Amino acid sequence: MATLITGIGELLTNDPTIGAGPVGRRTSAALVLDEGRVAWVGDASDAPDCDERLDVDGRAVIPGFVDSHTHLVFAGERSDEFEARMAGQRYDGGGIRRTVEATRAASRDDLLVSSRARLAALRAGGVTTVEIKSGYALTLDGEARLVDVASELTDEVTFLGAHVLPQEFDGHRDDYVSLVAGSMMEACEAARWVDVFCDRGAFNVDEARTVLNAGRARGKELRVHGNQLGATGGVSLAVELDAASVDHCTYVSDDELDALANSSTVATLLPGAEFSTRSPYPSGRRFLDAGATVALATDCNPGTSYVTSMSFVIALAVREMGMTVDEAVWAATAGGAAALRRSDIGHLGVGARAHVVVLDAPRVAHVAYRPGSQLIQTVL
Ligand code: NIG
Ligand code: FE
Repeated sequence: MATLITGIGELLTNDPTIGAGPVGRRTSAALVLDEGRVAWVGDASDAPDCDERLDVDGRAVIPGFVDSHTHLVFAGERSDEFEARMAGQRYDGGGIRRTVEATRAASRDDLLVSSRARLAALRAGGVTTVEIKSGYALTLDGEARLVDVASELTDEVTFLGAHVLPQEFDGHRDDYVSLVAGSMMEACEAARWVDVFCDRGAFNVDEARTVLNAGRARGKELRVHGNQLGATGGVSLAVELDAASVDHCTYVSDDELDALANSSTVATLLPGAEFSTRSPYPSGRRFLDAGATVALATDCNPGTSYVTSMSFVIALAVREMGMTVDEAVWAATAGGAAALRRSDIGHLGVGARAHVVVLDAPRVAHVAYRPGSQLIQTVL
């Protein structure tokens, strides 16, 4: 059944052939949704008749947010680490092993219930597509279980067996890398993506390359956690291997930025992590001015970013990272879609999935202008 959406105060389509600028902005617009897709978009005065009408009474309408980087499946919490960091302690990834311990001990049901609750929070905040990583079990069966739970919640599942070295492999790094690149990855076949935390205290560039190449050989597509804690080579590796995305990018040299801008790898910025670790924000402006494609995501995880609000991420990008509201909203929608190499989401052109968010505000800018307010009126 076709639905006509009318009374739109401001429509962002992210389709420059439909409206003004890169965000494809239109006023006096209407949208028709049919069979889960956008069937028509144009001037309200030309809108076709439909079985159903939804009058949004002057509200702004945008594509659903695409959260392309989360660690949604975990047990426990680490607020004590957050408090210590606010008092001056540095983040070094050490706490990941605490979440691994809690996650290994949790039942499948408990993991599913808690992950669903986080997903519901994301969705209430306008997220219509989410990527979910494994990475808090670090055993063959445990990682397979996390991939299985994540697969109940999304199609965009990422195998992150190379998150950190589990305690029982201390002194045996090579054995763990072989396990991840071999039988553990095989047990996580259902995951579309493979990711590696390529950074100080996690895995070096050679280890990361081994895991990523093994993933590619098994038909997986690549993503990288890179340059979160230092200029540790993750960005260059992601570009070298044509990864879909390199995420964090907190410390990126001019040469790496240049390489990124001349590649099809998206820079996914995760300001929730800088917020929660009291680290310097990467300049989104610098990435955009260099010509890189930028995505914004929550990085929802219990250690560095227990954030389930894309609006909060957008507000940080606008206030702290030199991005305009339009750039930040684009990065949280079309940018996330690019980071997942999806052309069916992140925009509202004809044929796109009918992932539509109605804001309880007349203009899109309210997302950053009124931080902390619940501005998502309807998620279609
Ligand atoms: O993206 N950096 C690596 N992984 C997560 C943090 C994991 C944790 O501290 O539990 C991140 O920030
Ligand atoms: Fe992450």
